[in-house]
Amino acid sequence: MICVMGPDPKDERSAAGGSAAPRPRKKRRQMHLSARHLLGLEGMPAEDIELILQTAVTFKEILGRPIKKVPPLRGMTVVNLFYEPSTRTRISFELAEKRLSADVVSFTTTTSSVQKGETLKDTIKNIEAMKTDVVVIRHRAAGAAHYLASCCDSIVINAGDGAHEHPTQGLLDIFTLKEKLGPLEGRTVLIVGDIAHSRVARSNIFGLTTLGANVRVCGPPTLIPVDVEQLGVEVFYNLDEALRDVDAINVLRIQKERQTGALLPSLREYTNLFGLTRERVELAGPEVVVMHPGPINRGVEITPEVADGPQSVILLQVTNGLAVRMAVLYLLCSGDVNAARR
Ligand code: CP
Repeated sequence: MICVMGPDPKDERSAAGGSAAPRPRKKRRQMHLSARHLLGLEGMPAEDIELILQTAVTFKEILGRPIKKVPPLRGMTVVNLFYEPSTRTRISFELAEKRLSADVVSFTTTTSSVQKGETLKDTIKNIEAMKTDVVVIRHRAAGAAHYLASCCDSIVINAGDGAHEHPTQGLLDIFTLKEKLGPLEGRTVLIVGDIAHSRVARSNIFGLTTLGANVRVCGPPTLIPVDVEQLGVEVFYNLDEALRDVDAINVLRIQKERQTGALLPSLREYTNLFGLTRERVELAGPEVVVMHPGPINRGVEITPEVADGPQSVILLQVTNGLAVRMAVLYLLCSGDVNAARR
């Protein structure tokens, strides 16, 4: 079992690296997240984000071993409730749960009694009646994860709720950026595209600004939320200007499924003005990191040449997502496992 332990930061001797006086035994403390659920990165303390990222480093190392399975969630049951399509998040959570030795049940709306009109609350209450412990939810409605946390006893993890938040995507993006760039304080990250409909953008903005990064957003005015500056970001409407001096570019998908009006004259015009091409990447410089949460609309928001190019970390993001989700599950569940075993 991995154990996330660390020296007590209040122990000045440990911070200062020792002294001539006899050393007392170092106090060690179990570290947990400050919240019971992971609903979003808005308001999450920097210490919690750093704890998840540090824990994910350990799990990434475990994932490189021939035997990738570890026992911390043995005896716990995780239910994946996916009310919206997903490839990366769903498979990544399932693998993370299995690698942590949890029992896993996956639910899709198309083959469930949701088709017969069962509500979200009734669905979770019936699932919980089978003694489950954790629910991972993706839902088209912003606030669905918060609602679930208010009406069930399980630990709730938000796997994307409408245009609100996608906290594990934000964390895996930040983990990948730190791997590539080191500490993010003072670094500049540009998020390009459909900011208004993007839960990925919101989670990245909350997490990155908490860690002291500068965040720029760029897109057509119709896809930039009113007052987005209040989230602490700089707004650009011209991509070539936005690209100057950035350390990383996170390109978003045009979310046709969440757009209710005619927000773009045409996809061709969007591609001309905001598509990430090799020429535009060169404006940012040879060291810039290119990211995309997926799925990609190749040839719309990013050219295949850039998506598959040397600066792209798109598949590394997916790899890191597994380690980050293992870290989140481990940290949220270990407190409950310990409580249940006492
Ligand atoms: N990035 C992401 O959330 O992808 P999926 O929709 O495939 O899970």
